[in-house]
Amino acid sequence: MAASSVFRPGLFNHKVAIVTGGGTGIGKAISLELLGLGCSVVISSRKAERLEAAAQEMRGRIPTSSPASVTPLPCNIRSEDEVKALVSSVLKQYGRIDYLVNNGGGQFSSPVEHIASKGWKAVIDTNLTGTFYCCKEVYTAWMKEHGGVIINIIADMWKGFPGMAHTGAARAAVDNLTKSLAMEWASSGVRVNAVAPGTIFSKTAMENYKELGPRLFKMSIPFSPAKRLGVPEEISSAVCFLLSPGASYISGATLRVDAGQSLYHSMWEIPDHSSWAEAPQGENLDALKELLKPQSKL
Ligand code: ADE
Repeated sequence: MAASSVFRPGLFNHKVAIVTGGGTGIGKAISLELLGLGCSVVISSRKAERLEAAAQEMRGRIPTSSPASVTPLPCNIRSEDEVKALVSSVLKQYGRIDYLVNNGGGQFSSPVEHIASKGWKAVIDTNLTGTFYCCKEVYTAWMKEHGGVIINIIADMWKGFPGMAHTGAARAAVDNLTKSLAMEWASSGVRVNAVAPGTIFSKTAMENYKELGPRLFKMSIPFSPAKRLGVPEEISSAVCFLLSPGASYISGATLRVDAGQSLYHSMWEIPDHSSWAEAPQGENLDALKELLKPQSKL
């Protein structure tokens, strides 16, 4: 069953958005909600066939009375030339770009000691540099003169991101980039915000994690104060709010859409060990040793 938006019909009539990674998971939910609210959406990702199939499916879900249309345009956001070509095609086809949602990204799970330079660079290039290219190009080609809204989708990396340190570093950098851009581009009437999702279940995310997927998602449920996983539609509604005039005084903000997960326990287990350097000698250490001394049997 398709989710319906809580926002008013026609809210984004005649607006134009680019959503990177717009064909799957969170990006697909954002694109569908925008389309349902009358926005024309350019969905972009690397895989042309998958993108075309997603666009076909979305077309079937646009109400006949809506002015919205969906256009799939393949682009590897790691390439500045491809990003320039994407923005230029959108302007040629639609003549404006009101919204940019930087959702395209990717990572793989690995402890740092096993991340090779190539894997590290690929994740930084996609998640950080790709976002930078998209922001810069959309700004210089359109928003500098006409204003607009940019949303960067990041992650729950507030306690570090053990097991996926590369993406944690990239997303934390995008969080900071969001604030810099919000300041630099305020005078053009551009608002820039970030959304940091908690653990979000989607069919695509399950497939990405392969056989680990089901276990990973089930395991993470107790770590949410909501005691359930989020779904892409719960990120999409936050993005639509931040894009809307209802958020006209919000810029440079990061909205955590995680049911409080980032305030709660970390999933990362630290094995018991005795590798830590001992605390400095003194009366407090003596008292601590006394406290921890095995109890003698009475
Ligand atoms: N999604 C994941 N990686 C991507 C890339 N390099 N370009 C566009 N979308 C992506």
